[in-house]
Amino acid sequence: MMEKDFLTSEYTSLKNKGKVRWKSPSNIALVKYWGKKKNQIPANPSISFTLDTCATDTKVSYQRLDEKTSGFSFDLFFEGVQKDDFRPKIETFFHRIETYLPFLREYHFKIETSNSFPHSSGIASSASGMSALALCLMSVEREFLPEMAENLFTKKASFLARLGSGSACRSIDGPLVQWGSHSAIEGSSDLFGIEYPYKTHEIFANFQDTILLVDEGQKQVSSTVGHDLMHGHPFAEQRFRQAYTHLSDFQTVLEDGNLKDFIKIVESEALTLHAMMMTSHPYFILMKPNTLEIINRIWSFRETSKTSVCFTLDAGANVHVLYPENEKETVYGFIKSELLQFCENRKHICDRTGSGAREQKN
Ligand code: PMV
Repeated sequence: MMEKDFLTSEYTSLKNKGKVRWKSPSNIALVKYWGKKKNQIPANPSISFTLDTCATDTKVSYQRLDEKTSGFSFDLFFEGVQKDDFRPKIETFFHRIETYLPFLREYHFKIETSNSFPHSSGIASSASGMSALALCLMSVEREFLPEMAENLFTKKASFLARLGSGSACRSIDGPLVQWGSHSAIEGSSDLFGIEYPYKTHEIFANFQDTILLVDEGQKQVSSTVGHDLMHGHPFAEQRFRQAYTHLSDFQTVLEDGNLKDFIKIVESEALTLHAMMMTSHPYFILMKPNTLEIINRIWSFRETSKTSVCFTLDAGANVHVLYPENEKETVYGFIKSELLQFCENRKHICDRTGSGAREQKN
């Protein structure tokens, strides 16, 4: 599918008002996206686990205006409170997607959204938030175009979510979503995420992700700034090639269920992401001393317990501890006894792989 396939020519019927609602999960990248081209096109392909517990629930009520507006007409409520500081993000998003959703200027929207995880937890809500909003807007469009094929609905939702926040395009499906053109992955595209199309070993079913909240503060560096710093980065080209190769290697790992190789790729990806931040200009460090303490403890525990626990990181200090379901008891015991002391007030979230966004009853 190409960009032009997401253009809408004419609506069969425009309704006066209605309400739609979606719950969309967060995702955690195993091969990371860091660096982008114009229009949110990724500099390299990536793959992620869709999460289950960490999610955004968004309700959109729409009401037809008497005449088209020059700007966009909407109100935004976050956890029941009107949030004007979130408006610019939505304005930018609407500007980016209006070519593909021409009804946007004809309606007033009331957007009510809430997260299942604490806002200041350091867990990025852009992936779940933007994908939930994109899905709601697609549901509105489907009310005007009831014949729309399911495949177009899903791909266009991912395409729109990408324009809100790159990684959001990987939150529509699950449990494994790939985004970014790759010659070995059929159907892969820079424009939207796809459900990983090949066989995966059963060990990856219900994979556990315990998120350790090391630092609940606001991020020092936004991902927009971080992506930009990959332009002219001394190691950018090598990094993009590495991600491409990691994704090729991942195919065998996912099929065979080889957790040793899985760990090698996943941990290397996490550390490379942070290495890119440490070697950009300006340079910065998002890991905290407790992040490193946790990583070292995971490494020693893995050695002595012979389990397959490993970690990955986002663009922040929190640690995602990954392990297969059949090791849950042992690894969670270790997390409680050794790792929670390094979290703010022992805060953590027990999550696992999930199957993607779901439409909700209003
Ligand atoms: O979607 P963005 O622009 O917030 O970028 C997310 C980048 C990482 O989370 C660090 C990596 C990834 O692939 O999700």
